[in-house]
Amino acid sequence: MNNTPTHASSPTCATTERDENTTTWVEFSSQSLQHNVRVVRRLGKDCRILAMVKANGYGHGANWATRVLAPFVDGFGVARLAEAQCLRAQLPEARIVLMGSRLGEAQYRWCADNGVETVVHDEHVATQLAAMSLPRPLSVWLKLNVGMNRLGMSPEAFCRSHPRLAAAPGIGHIVHMSHFSDADDPDPSETRKQVARMRQCSGQFGEVPLSMANSAGIIAHPDSHGSWLRPGIMLYGDDPTNTLSGDLALKPVMTFKSRIVAIRDIAAGEGIGYSRRYRATQPRRIATVGAGYGDGYPRHAPDGTPLLIKGQRAPLAGRVSMDLLTVDISDLVDVSVGDEVTLWGEGLPAAEVGQHCGTISYELFTRVTERVARYHR
Ligand SMILES: Cc1ncc(COP(=O)(O)O)c(C=O)c1O
Repeated sequence: MNNTPTHASSPTCATTERDENTTTWVEFSSQSLQHNVRVVRRLGKDCRILAMVKANGYGHGANWATRVLAPFVDGFGVARLAEAQCLRAQLPEARIVLMGSRLGEAQYRWCADNGVETVVHDEHVATQLAAMSLPRPLSVWLKLNVGMNRLGMSPEAFCRSHPRLAAAPGIGHIVHMSHFSDADDPDPSETRKQVARMRQCSGQFGEVPLSMANSAGIIAHPDSHGSWLRPGIMLYGDDPTNTLSGDLALKPVMTFKSRIVAIRDIAAGEGIGYSRRYRATQPRRIATVGAGYGDGYPRHAPDGTPLLIKGQRAPLAGRVSMDLLTVDISDLVDVSVGDEVTLWGEGLPAAEVGQHCGTISYELFTRVTERVARYHR
């Protein structure tokens, strides 16, 4: 483990090595990230992998994630031009695809000049790009709307745009893509329809490389694999279908930790925290933990949300505040001030914490704040 944290963009953040006084931190496991990408490789043996590292590698650190993943994947997916620019500076040769952005001419020129591929989800943009004279050929991922109704062209616009782009001298290669709305639904019928729509449209243009599958598609819909897989959350250890097991079970990459900073006994009838949301009906032992919503732990976490202390689960008790939260340790043994507390990660899946809080692991991962020290191992 590298004990020097890498966050520290804020002057108030300590850059000291981690010791028993470090209150709140996240650990990232490169072994788990490598394990998870091998799972993707096993599920989609003959496919290329575009690892999604948008939103700072789903909160794991895009620089670190791309460094660990580079030997195992064929390219990286981002969602903002700034992300593509950072990644290009770090990886001069990597294949980079910019998803879902709205760019101006200057930005398209930058993409062409720097070998960054862009998703084209709008017919006007396809026409504009086909007419542009670009410094180097721009490779594009032409997107069909198969049912999500968020981005992507109608079948008619898609079928008009493909030949225009294919004939344009400024355009490099073309990939056909779509994005599923329901791939994690145990009922496969909607995704099957969406696969069929994509294949029907793309098939009119011969053997064009095809990309449909996000994590849930990779796991639950082998028929959607096509040429390029686009795994995101499964790389970081969450299985949106909850079906992988054994050697294919995914491993959490991020573990969010803190420490107990105080312990007190309260009597029946006493409350805890702001508004005394939690009211004890019997005597309770309460630990105060040095993490709060200022670190990215959700303020709306309800009483009962699990935390992990020395391998034992304990329920959140009382409203989460900015720097602290409180947990009922009455049923735990051998717990003292200074002990580590896992908020989510190894031993406590982020998806489970997310379920209590009405959210998903994606949001928890991307909300850990800058003041939290990051240790990559
Ligand atoms: C276009 C596109 N492809 C792939 C992904 C990866 O999805 P997941 O993280 O569910 O694997 C995303 C994520 O939102 C996306 O927007």
